[in-house]
Formats: sequence, structure tokens, C-alpha cells
Amino acid sequence: MDKSYKRILITAALPYANGKIHLGHLAGAYLPADIYARYQRSKRRDVIFMCGSDEHGVPITITAENEKTTPQAIVDRYHAMNKAVFEKFGMSFDNYSRTSLPLHHQTAQEFFVKLHAAGILKEKVEKQLYDEKAGMFLPDRYVEGTCPSCSNLEARGDQCEKCGTFLNPLDLLNPKSKITGETPVVRETSHWYFPLGDYQKRLEEYIANRNEQEGWKENVLNYCRSWFNEGLQDRAVTRDLQWGVRVPLKGYEDKVLYVWFDAVLGYISSTKEWAQKQSNEKWKNYWLDDNTKYVAFIGKDNVVFHCIVFPAMLMAWNDNSNEKYVLPGNVPANEFLNFEGQKFSKSRGWGIDVDEFLEKYSPDSLRYALALNLPELRDSDFYWKDFQARHNNELADILGNYVNRVITFVHKNFNGKVPKLHQLSDLDNIFINELKQKSGIIGGLIERYKFREAVLETMNLARSANKYFNDSEPWKTHKQNPEQCTTTLNICLQAVRSLAVLFEPVLPFTTQRIKKILNIDNDKIDFSWDGAGNLELKEGHMLGNPEILFSKIEDEVIQKELDNLGAVSKPTALPVEELKPLISIDDFKKVDLRVATVLSCEKVAKSDKLLKLQVSIGLEQRQLVAGIAQHYKPEDLVGKKIIVVANLQPAKLMGNESKGMLLAASDTSGKLVFVTTSEDIADGAIVK
Ligand code: MF3
Ligand code: ZN
Repeated sequence: MDKSYKRILITAALPYANGKIHLGHLAGAYLPADIYARYQRSKRRDVIFMCGSDEHGVPITITAENEKTTPQAIVDRYHAMNKAVFEKFGMSFDNYSRTSLPLHHQTAQEFFVKLHAAGILKEKVEKQLYDEKAGMFLPDRYVEGTCPSCSNLEARGDQCEKCGTFLNPLDLLNPKSKITGETPVVRETSHWYFPLGDYQKRLEEYIANRNEQEGWKENVLNYCRSWFNEGLQDRAVTRDLQWGVRVPLKGYEDKVLYVWFDAVLGYISSTKEWAQKQSNEKWKNYWLDDNTKYVAFIGKDNVVFHCIVFPAMLMAWNDNSNEKYVLPGNVPANEFLNFEGQKFSKSRGWGIDVDEFLEKYSPDSLRYALALNLPELRDSDFYWKDFQARHNNELADILGNYVNRVITFVHKNFNGKVPKLHQLSDLDNIFINELKQKSGIIGGLIERYKFREAVLETMNLARSANKYFNDSEPWKTHKQNPEQCTTTLNICLQAVRSLAVLFEPVLPFTTQRIKKILNIDNDKIDFSWDGAGNLELKEGHMLGNPEILFSKIEDEVIQKELDNLGAVSKPTALPVEELKPLISIDDFKKVDLRVATVLSCEKVAKSDKLLKLQVSIGLEQRQLVAGIAQHYKPEDLVGKKIIVVANLQPAKLMGNESKGMLLAASDTSGKLVFVTTSEDIADGAIVK
């Protein structure tokens, strides 16, 4: 940290109380945030960590309608579920609040009133669809109709899922209310807007400055740049809906604040609730003091709200109040986590229920495997096999085995007491030095949000500890050189403590168990990050009982998990087709292969094999028709990089022109996958 801050405020995105959190959420925001918070506490810094449920918004009201219940019942259910899962997973929130609390409603209304009174918000009258039977204006997702650009009959009011076009409900042909099925009418309604564009210059400066001080993640900066390039637009802060925070203005009794406006303020109200629980006003120390370093952990889909919208709202407040809120100092957003090579999908049953997972496996094993696969710079995957390997080969074989060897040796040979440290050999000194340096190295990585590397480094220390034990050969020196033997074991025990300190951010439950094994449950022994390398255990200290920290996960267990998932991750048969005759390099060069991006994709009518794609090959856009409909849904392909044979003679397939061919690989089992690039590269790039 450049500047020395008095306090650290950490927030993690408030998950919607409209479904269960999954591994993707944990990897996107929550695990990194928790590692960071635990580390900062271990550094003995003044830190709080806030979260809660985001309980407003249209999707929640739709769920309630589908289930014939109230939005409150939906959010009560998911709030309780998610809170419990977070606890099981070891999330160390200082408070987990809810945006349906009166305290939150007041906070959000206060913000609205302040910005409104200052003349910042603009009122606009607009046309919107109104359901006369239901007696209400229809939010965009409450309307379905025909997409004006691709004729999809089931386009949503905000977007056509088939062709990706962003829509306004008024754009839909033949619109229908999702509530009553009636055709809505057009009525005028007025809404308040936040003029985001007015803040663009200040926002650009803010992000440039913070980036300079703090080193923002490149992926986050890129998202911000692209928003700035497009130019920031006015954003509606109210909408016609019953569920949410009431707009505290005359004439607006039937409207609520837009969920994005109230949700980000949930961080503040959660902190207020935390302070209320201890009957103090301490929330102000964190939010209203620029000696606070504020770090907001989120997934990539929330970048615009945290880097642009929320800071602008705070700027607008700060311009008009003596209370000056601190702006995010960093927003270390992660990309997405996929599951066994595909997106998580509730409807396809593609994913893992976190709750069920934690019934069977330890939270620390999950935390460890996720930490090493965090989508820090690009999307990453969770694989069952990788989870098993991390658990068996690293947690059990390296960390668990080390702790067990050392503790049982001391119990067997020294009656379970920390033996004496005598003269240090070179080998001892080298290892002690490594112990001393590790906390700084790992800490530096965590401060720069490089959690994967930090955890890797921590496991490397356990590797070194095993090596030190082996190289010291205590089973030999026990007879031949007893002083050397007690010295070795003394140092090995010190290293067990060091590992417990340094692993705590990622393996909090294991650390507790190691503390018990070392019998240092009593806080009489320093357990701070900076003291991790010290030799704190005193000669003669009595240890607790040995315990197996991790028992192996058998292949059959993992196979069962994979079988439950369906066919996809089963090994595929190798192609057995014979190789074709040789060609010259010149033959090959005749083929013009280009990188392309799929802009849109749809099924070809009356064909169950063909998909029609619009692709960009850099110089131009063109249409391809490909026989892959049995392997991909149109929406799976949109946005994907593919490789195209660009100079193939055009052809007509079922009346559709195809200019080129996309490359795909298929095996003898009939599986087919399209060929893509491992990293992002411009459309039109030549493949050679
Ligand atoms: N509930 C939303 C999501 O999960 C937004 C969370 S961040 C907040 O994507 F700041 F807006 F709460
Ligand atoms: Zn469409």
C-alpha cells in the first residue's frame, strides 16, 4: 500500500436473494474477498468486511409470481439459504445484511432525496407499456413479443436472447404482458434519471489516479475504458414497480428506486446495521474518512456499477454534503468460472450445489481448489478431477502429511513436548530464513490481488518443509546426533505453526485444527501474519493429539460425481481414420484461414442440423451456414471466436447462402466441437 491507511473497508457484491449462490459466485468475488479480509486481520489492521442480500429487482418479483407467492417469501428463503452456505464455506463477514431492511430503505431514500434536492436528477416523461388488466406499468422483463431483428417469437422486453439485440419493450412486435397475457397499451409515465455523462471526466480521472496508486487489474481497466469510449448515458433511477424502495416524492407513490441504485448502497446500510448492533456510530469511521482504503470485490458483470455508477453517486453526494464518502480504492473483479468446460446452467443441471458439496467435502478443500483456479485474468474452469488432485496430492500428501509426520515423531520420541533448539546447522539456517521471508512474499501477492500465486507460494512452503524434514533425516540423527534431532524437530514444529498462520486466509478450518494439534488454542502465542516466521513455540510446550487433516478422495467417488453430471466429461474415443496423403506447403497456403467472431446465430428453419451465423472476419461481415445444430445451441456460439475458411466458394444450403466454412473437430463417437483460439486475437487474423 502506497499510502498508509488507518482502516480497510472490504465489501463483496450483494448476491440476489433469488437463487442459490454457486461455485462461480464463490470464485468470482467471495473467496478472494475472504482471503483478503482474513489476511488483513492477520496483519492486525483495522478492517471490516461487509455483505448482504440484494433483495429487490424484477427477477425476484417474477420468481414470486411463478411460484404464486410473495417477493418477501422468496427473499426470506434465499437470504437464509445463502447466509447459511456462506457460513459453511467459511466466509468471515462482519455483517450479512439485507436490502429489505427499513434501515436500508432509509439509506437509499436519503441518497435519492439528496441528489434530487441538489437538482442533479432529471425527470423525463416517456412512453411505456401498461397492462390494463393488472393495472400496472410493465417493466421490460414483464413483456414478451416478437424480436424486430430476428423474428424470434419469445424475445424479452430488455433483450432478445436469440440474436442478442438490446431492446426496449416498445420495440417488440405483438407485445404480450407476462402477467396477464393481455396486449398492453402505451401510456406515458415519468421517471428520474441520473446524468452519468456529467461525471465522465471526473470518473476517468478518478480511475486513472486510483490505478496509479493501487495498480488496478487490467481486465477491470479495460471494461472501464470501453464504457468511457462509448460515452456515459443518463440512467433511470426509478421504475414502475411495487417491490423495492419507495420513491419518496409526491406523484411517485407507485414507483420504486431502480435496483441498481439501491443495491450498491446496501454496503453502507450493512455497515450501519453492524454499528447499530454494537450501539455505536462506527460505520462513519469507515465510510466517511478518506483514511479508509475501500476495496470492493465483485464479478466482472458488476464492473460498471462499482467503477462508474457507484463512484458517481458518491461524488454527487459528496458535492452536496459535509459528509464525504470514501470511493472504492480498488475493484478487483474476477472473470467467470466455468464448470467442466461449460457455463454453469441451472436449467441443464450443469453445476454443483454448494450446500451438497459441503456436506460431502471439506470447505477448505473447496477453497483451496477454487483459489488455485480463480478466474483472475481470464475465465477459468472447475474440474472434479482437478479438485480431487489438489485435495489428494497437495492438501493430503504435502500439507497434511507434513503435519502428521512431525507431530507423530514428536509424540513418539519426545513425549509430545517441543524439544530443545541447539546449535543450528546450515540446513537449519536456510530453512529458518525461508520461513522468515515467506510472510512478506505471500502478503505482497495478496495485497496485489494475486490470490492464485499467493496460495501456490504457501503450498511451496509446505513442500520445502517436507524437504527439510527429509534432508535432516531425524530418524537417523535420533540415535547418531540427538542434539541435531531435537533441533530439527523444534524447527519442524515452528514451521507447522508458520504454515497454520500463512494458510489461514485460504484454509481457515484447517488452521483451527492445526492450532488444536499444536495446543495453541489459547491466544498466548502470537499468531499474527508478520510473526509467521518467528520461532514462537517454547521448549517443553505440550502438544495436543495428532490428527489426520485430510483423507484421500477415492477415484470412484469422483467418478460418481462425473456420472451424475451426464455424458460430457467422459473420455472420448480416439479418431481412427487414416491419415490423408501428403500435400505441399503451397497446397496448404491456398487455404485462407481467418479468426472470426460470431455476431449472431440462429437455427435454419425446417432443418435440425443447420445453424446460420453472422460473423465478423475483420474486413467484413458475412453469413455462414454450418451443420452443427445438434452440438450447439445458437446462444452458445454468440461472441465466440472461431476459425473460418474464408476463401471457400460460396454455396447455398437449404436456400441460405454460406460464404465460408467454420472449422470443427469431431471424433468417432460423434462428438463435435468448433475450433477456437486459446487467447483473444483480432478478427481477420490469419491462421497459418
Ligand atoms: N445482486 C447483483 C449481482 O449479484 C448486484 C450485486 S452488487 C451490488 O449481480 F452492489 F449492487 F449490490
Ligand atoms: Zn432477435
